[in-house]
Amino acid sequence: MRLAVLKERRPAETRVAATPETVKKFIALGLTVAVEAGAGLSAGIPDAEYGAAGAEIAPNAASALNGAGIVLKVRAPLGAGEGAVDELSLIPRGALLLGQLQASPEMAAAYAKAGIEAGAMELLPRITRAQSMDILSSQANLAGYRAVIEAAAAFDRGFPMLMTAAGTIPAANVFVMGAGVAGLQAIATARRLGGRVSATDVRPAAKEEIKSLGASFVGYEDEESKAAQTAGGYAKQLSANFYAKQAEVVATHIAKQDIVITTALVQGRKAPTLVTAEMVRSMKPGSVIVDIASDAGGNVALTKPGEAITTENGVTILGHANWPGRIPAAASALYARNLLTFLTTFWDKEAKAPKLPEGDEIVKGVLLTRGGAVIHPSLAPAQAA
Ligand code: NAI
Repeated sequence: MRLAVLKERRPAETRVAATPETVKKFIALGLTVAVEAGAGLSAGIPDAEYGAAGAEIAPNAASALNGAGIVLKVRAPLGAGEGAVDELSLIPRGALLLGQLQASPEMAAAYAKAGIEAGAMELLPRITRAQSMDILSSQANLAGYRAVIEAAAAFDRGFPMLMTAAGTIPAANVFVMGAGVAGLQAIATARRLGGRVSATDVRPAAKEEIKSLGASFVGYEDEESKAAQTAGGYAKQLSANFYAKQAEVVATHIAKQDIVITTALVQGRKAPTLVTAEMVRSMKPGSVIVDIASDAGGNVALTKPGEAITTENGVTILGHANWPGRIPAAASALYARNLLTFLTTFWDKEAKAPKLPEGDEIVKGVLLTRGGAVIHPSLAPAQAA
């Protein structure tokens, strides 16, 4: 069976879905691998390295996809009218497509119509068995790290307390909002750089995790926040009353911060606005806010998604798109391993082909389409309508 790896064509996408390391392992499973020319360039992987790992370098998407039974992508393939290449139309019927597909009901219906078996890796259930395939975790971890590094670069002072013969520079006050995977990595990284770190979250479990990393907890807690976590491990959407109370606590704290890193997400919704324009205005000139949630609309009222701006009172807000894509070599390495683990977990050794049993909890979570129909519970009803 042929496995195809395409070049990513969506804006701000620098990652690639396979690396020479995973290519070698796919070949050992009995696959032949075709990598589209230039697929790894923006992640620092030249074609020659894929070639040395045993892959065929295909000159374009059409030739990579010709006869492919498995297609690996970071982002959803481009459809008709989305770019120079209609990738979707080139994927052979019956092929398994894996990626962070973020499919709308219309896109899922298009995969079904094209006879593609589409696996949306971001929908992986958060169970122990799936941890090593979890693209959201691997990518969020790196985003959290990168956010702190970029904040440090944009900050005109420094993170650690610097005691010199010429005098002392105080440590930076760093506030991390949202202490999930990205936020916890941001806390750890900011601490390593010597910042004085505090953090907030709404899930009760996060408070202990924040403290265990040596940061202080700042936040509002009540009966509602005691039940703020879903069975899947995500934060729930909370009431307007709760958010107002949380904002009161946060407002006085933010005014004293040099660096604010926001990572808060509520699955399937726009990111909650945690930092109002007024809070930004309360910060000192030279302060830096990094909004990792910018792709989901942002946690900061003044964030311009995809851009870096400086406000009238001199606060820099980094609202770049695709934070994992800003550390593309590491992000690709982990993403590629997540996909490799998924495929090796569901691998039929005799047939040398993937075997995705519909009764399996992981497969149920991920698989959008099969046999020309949309089968995912969150997307199928919309198609019927
Ligand atoms: P996420 O990316 O959906 O959200 C980031 C953080 O924002 C979360 O901690 C959330 O509680 C927080 N948040 C939401 N609304 C907020 C608000 N108003 N104020 C402050 N914070 C707010 O979540 P992520 O990072 O993907 O994971 C959340 C949890 O899931 C973590 O506890 C993590 O350990 C767990 N997890 C479990 C896995 C497994 O067992 N396989 C895999 C990955 C994560």
